[in-house]
Amino acid sequence: GEASLHNWVYNSIELVVAWLVEVAFGSDGEIANSFHRNDFKQMIAIVRSGTMLSIPPSLKVEPTFLPSKGFSLQQGEDIILGGIDPHTHLAMEFMGTVTIDDFFSGQAAALAGGTTMHIDFVIPVNGSLSAGFETYLGKAKRSCMDYGFHMAITKWDETVSKEMEIMVKEKGINSFKFFLAYKGSLMINDELLLEGFKKCKSLGALAMVHAENGDAVFEGQKRMIELGITGPEGHALSRPPVLEGEATARAIRLAGFVNTPLYIVHVMSIDAMEEIAEARKSGQRVIGEPVASGLVLDDSGLWDPDFTTAAKQELASLSLSLNYFLFFIICLFVMSPPIRAPGHGKALQAGLSTGILQLVGTDHCAFNSTQKAFGIDDFRKIPNGVNGIEERMHLVWDTMVESGQISVTDYVRLTSTECARIFNIYPRKGAILPGSDADIIILNPNSSFEISATSHHSRSDTNVFEGRRGKGKVEVTISGGRVVWENGQLKVAPGSGNYVEMPPFGYLFGGIDKADAEYLSSLRAPVKRFKATT
Ligand code: URP
Ligand code: ZN
Ligand code: ZN
Ligand code: ZN
Repeated sequence: GEASLHNWVYNSIELVVAWLVEVAFGSDGEIANSFHRNDFKQMIAIVRSGTMLSIPPSLKVEPTFLPSKGFSLQQGEDIILGGIDPHTHLAMEFMGTVTIDDFFSGQAAALAGGTTMHIDFVIPVNGSLSAGFETYLGKAKRSCMDYGFHMAITKWDETVSKEMEIMVKEKGINSFKFFLAYKGSLMINDELLLEGFKKCKSLGALAMVHAENGDAVFEGQKRMIELGITGPEGHALSRPPVLEGEATARAIRLAGFVNTPLYIVHVMSIDAMEEIAEARKSGQRVIGEPVASGLVLDDSGLWDPDFTTAAKQELASLSLSLNYFLFFIICLFVMSPPIRAPGHGKALQAGLSTGILQLVGTDHCAFNSTQKAFGIDDFRKIPNGVNGIEERMHLVWDTMVESGQISVTDYVRLTSTECARIFNIYPRKGAILPGSDADIIILNPNSSFEISATSHHSRSDTNVFEGRRGKGKVEVTISGGRVVWENGQLKVAPGSGNYVEMPPFGYLFGGIDKADAEYLSSLRAPVKRFKATT
């Protein structure tokens, strides 16, 4: 009513005045020293006035708050950096269909879950990188939050090599993904992988790999079909952890041979993580990215007789056969590499808390139930992928911070800062510093969340985290200075998101040239000795 409007205006003016007084007099008051909720209301008031698109230079941030100086945010202080999801697939044409979340719905879901930027994978069009790039810019026209692009490399020739250079030097792409799986579509062989690694290195672009042995997966699929296992349980059986471990090890060794940094996407198994740990111990620059689904889900339900019982009960209300219903549920969880047996997720969590793995993504690649059901009679036709873009921040908080495995400081690093550093957009992103984009969330550690397809913002009619509850709730999301999520309401505008160009030669490339020089001189020494004696 009129009174509440009056109150709101009054309060806002009061807050703005308080802020302006602080700014004008350079006060070392509350705002300058900490980010408690009440102080932040002032910032929100400024944001509402539409004047703060980035952190104002006048804002003095307590030094201990800065990531570069240790970032000693304590639990209970609930102002957190907006999340950056390094791995998503919005509006991707894949396995005969298109992922159900486009750049608007997927980003709206992200914002509702406290993520304020994501990096999606451009898929080339008939092998053409520039055509792929243009296509994705078109897909992203209705964006409502900031985004960047990685790019997949699916074939190799002079044109691809030239185009990689254009993408890096002119289009703001600084990372390329190579698929060692998906034989017959996206998969590439070792020769191409080596060419790609060399090119990446020369451009200062980060090489990323989907690490599963695609030839062996193909063999595994044949084996399952021959055994008569055509249902969705065949998916995981056909591509066990050993195939992920093998491809991870191979990619790491080849990247080491070329001496270029490597980023392993969606690390799903202990097998893969062990390879990353070994390489890092030996000094190799390898980044490991687990995803929300791999961290918190496992496949135990699928082999559990209770699961069948539960399904039977649900079936009473549906006119489906038990097998069909069971298969249908299992289809929903199909992604590659597969969600593993109990134990892998816990190990990946430990990997994150001890620094073996460096950041958390989602691989958000959502389909609805009718799309998932394409492959109910042949697991090879189930579109691969699960959701996570909206759930990641909550799941990581609940699983890692609430359980005491990591500090709030670690949380900010794993969900935002490290991604910004790796992809060379820090401190515009990944920091609350003067000049940084105002991508900020209020996460209330005393509130709780519950995940359901009935309340999520993805377009999918299912959610692999259905029914999960936990502590910590993103109550406000500020994206580029605008309050876009508050009181359970999204206020997003199509077209308001910006493409974030990512420059090459991020921190992972520091010193690579010196190591190469060392290597060359180690080669020349014996050559010289040999020449001297002949
Ligand atoms: O199953 C998955 N992961 N789908 C998305 C494509 C990919 O491999 O990242
Ligand atoms: Zn305070
Ligand atoms: Zn992948
Ligand atoms: Zn992916």
